[in-house]
Order: sequence, then structure tokens, then C-alpha cells
Amino acid sequence: MNLIFLGAPGAGKGTQAEVVSDALNIPQISTGNILREAAKNGTEYGLKAKAAMDAGALVSDDIVIGILKERIAEDDCKNGFILDGFPRTVPQAEALDNMNIRIDKVIEIHVPDETIKQRVSGRRVCQGCGASYHIEYKPTKVEGICDKCGDKTIVRKDDQPEVVLDRLATYHEKTAPLKDYYEKQGKLVTVIGQEEVADTSKLTLQAVGVEK
Ligand code: AP5
Ligand code: ZN
Repeated sequence: MNLIFLGAPGAGKGTQAEVVSDALNIPQISTGNILREAAKNGTEYGLKAKAAMDAGALVSDDIVIGILKERIAEDDCKNGFILDGFPRTVPQAEALDNMNIRIDKVIEIHVPDETIKQRVSGRRVCQGCGASYHIEYKPTKVEGICDKCGDKTIVRKDDQPEVVLDRLATYHEKTAPLKDYYEKQGKLVTVIGQEEVADTSKLTLQAVGVEK
């Protein structure tokens, strides 16, 4: 099954994509994580991407489409994949359609902006493996230490309140039109992501058809 997770920054795409990835045993492909890793390694495109990410803007379509093409050509994507954070613009969605890949469903995780602002302030991410936590809703077992790899958890640079406002504006302007795009293709399913993480997971698994 090939799925897209769509939603505002901090809506919970990554959190739910991980749950579905485990349930269906298909990889979760987060363009945000790939870009952050490239920025950390100081690659040429990583450094270009970093400036846009830190400002709450989008990285250029060319860079992201190139990254995605390479990633979905890898072996582990043969039986399906979950796109977490791609496409984010109409040109990216068109590029995906032109790759001749059948998308089965587009899951939109819907959360009001006010909830997002509050939620993102509590997010912590692992500086080693990129795993995502929340100080209140999904805490690590030991404070400040990643459950998965033992490295330190930190606040993402683009989670500062001013940057979050810019990311939300970018979302409404550039990404929200994709709801219409996929509605017209009959693929859009909206999940209300305002409930607790476990409740949202149940709704998401139902939307994907894993749970009744
Ligand atoms: P990316 O990393 O994709 O960031 P984002 O879309 O802004 O999404 P987030 O990772 O912030 O949030 P999420 O929806 O995954 O939420 P999460 O599950 O973590 O992209 C970063 C940047 O990279 C972009 O700004 C852009 O510059 C660039 N980029 C990436 N892809 C691109 C593309 N295709 N084109 C161009 N540029 C691109 O949850 C958030 C927090 O809330 C967590 O702490 C979580 O534990 C908690 N939480 C989750 N669900 C719940 C719940 N139900 N109740 C309570 N808390 C919850
Ligand atoms: Zn980790």
C-alpha cells in the first residue's frame, strides 16, 4: 500500500506514520528527517535546505523531488511506503503523479492551529536518530534521553514560536491546496488529530483499513 500523510506542521503526521509503518511493515519516508540529516552532515543540498527550514519556509521543489525519487527507488519500498511530509506543493504532487506511482490513500491529519502552537512547544526530538517525543503526551522513559538510541533529546530549531507561525502560514498557502487536489482524485480521508495520541492512532488505522 502506498500512502501519503498530509497535515500542518505538528499535526502528528510523523507520530501516526510510525504507527502505520509498524502495522503494515512498510517504511515511513519523512522528507523532513532526510533533510535534517543532510543538513547535519553538511552536504551541499543539506546546507541549502537548512536555511529554508530554519526560516519555516519550504525547501525548493527540485531538491525535494530529487530526494524522494531516489528514496522510493530503494529496495525496502517495493511493497509500499508512507510519505510523511511529501508532497507539500501542487508541483510536488504533479511530479509524483508523473512518476507513475499509484497512491492508494491520502490521510489528512486535521488539527486546529491553536492546538498546534501549544503542542509543538512540548516536542522534543532525538539529536541522534530523529525520534520524536512530547514532554507531556509522549514522554521519554528517562527525561531528556531517547528511548530508542540513548542519545539526547532537544528542541527543534524550527519549533520556536515565531518560526511555527511562519510554518503554519506556509502550510495554509502552499500545502493545504493539496486537500482539493486529492479530493478530486477520490483519495482524501480526513482524520481528526486532536484526540490523545492513542485515539488518533485508532482513527488513523481505521482510515487505512487496518482496524475496523
Ligand atoms: P517536517 O519535519 O516534515 O516538519 P512538519 O511538516 O512541519 O511536521 P512536523 O515534523 O513538525 O510535525 P508532524 O506532523 O510530523 O507531527 P509529530 O508527529 O512530530 O519538515 C520540516 C521542514 O523541512 C519543513 O518546514 C520544510 O522546510 C522542509 N521540508 C520537508 N518536506 C518538504 C517538502 N516535501 N517540500 C519542501 N520542504 C520540505 O507531532 C508533533 C508533536 O505533537 C510531537 O511532540 C508529538 O509527540 C505530539 N503529538 C502528536 N500527536 C499528538 C496527539 N494526538 N495529542 C497530543 N500530542 C501529539
Ligand atoms: Zn534516538
